[in-house]
Amino acid sequence: MFYPFEMERYLETLLGKRDPLLREMEEQALKETIPVVTPTVGNFLNLLVHMSKAQAVLEIGTAIGYSTIWLARATEKTGGHVTTIDMNKDRRRRALIYFERAGLQNGITALEGDARKILPTLDSKFDFVFIDAAKGEYLDYLNLIYPLIAPEGLLVVDNVLFRGWVVPESTFAPKYDRMVGGLRQFLQELCENPDFSTTVLPFGDGVSISRKCKL
Ligand SMILES: C[S@@+](CC[C@H](N)C(=O)[O-])C[C@H]1O[C@@H](n2cnc3c(N)ncnc32)[C@H](O)[C@@H]1O
Repeated sequence: MFYPFEMERYLETLLGKRDPLLREMEEQALKETIPVVTPTVGNFLNLLVHMSKAQAVLEIGTAIGYSTIWLARATEKTGGHVTTIDMNKDRRRRALIYFERAGLQNGITALEGDARKILPTLDSKFDFVFIDAAKGEYLDYLNLIYPLIAPEGLLVVDNVLFRGWVVPESTFAPKYDRMVGGLRQFLQELCENPDFSTTVLPFGDGVSISRKCKL
């Protein structure tokens, strides 16, 4: 978190009470250091799907399904469907249990495998794509996802400012050089891509939102 922790906590209080299942997942993720989106980002994803009336939603990076549930609670209202991908078999298994408990199992398809292998096999278009998987692979996902985003579709990407270290002249341990460099290149290419209209929001861990404006 690169902006005051107190601010994130305060924004969380404004969300009101989350239901026990989401709270349980937040606690579980914290206990096991599974990097799920913050509640404010989850709420924001939900709002965006509602506002855009997205039908076909794709997520890269399910983990235990926390962000998927925020997305699927919106598609339940828009009449849409969420497809989510994760290569971790155990996390996917646990996500499926949470989807059942949330009563959302019919609104979610959870694919297991490397997104870089699965994406080229998908032939439908998506109105809304959320990327939240391996930070060093964001450029690969971007290239593979591009043809799958419907015209006027939205692309939302989490962790684009990664602890604020993506900002030039930040200091961080050398082991993060590659990841931070990859994220800088990703943001640069995304923001310079004339087929997308992009903005970056400095909340959570940094969230980018792009509209695919090329028809
Ligand atoms: C940050 S977690 C996702 C958190 C989730 N979006 C949430 O907020 O609840 C990243 C997930 O991406 C998965 N992942 C990493 N690289 C992947 C790849 N190439 N293909 C599919 N899944 C991948 C990991 O297994 C991990 O569970």
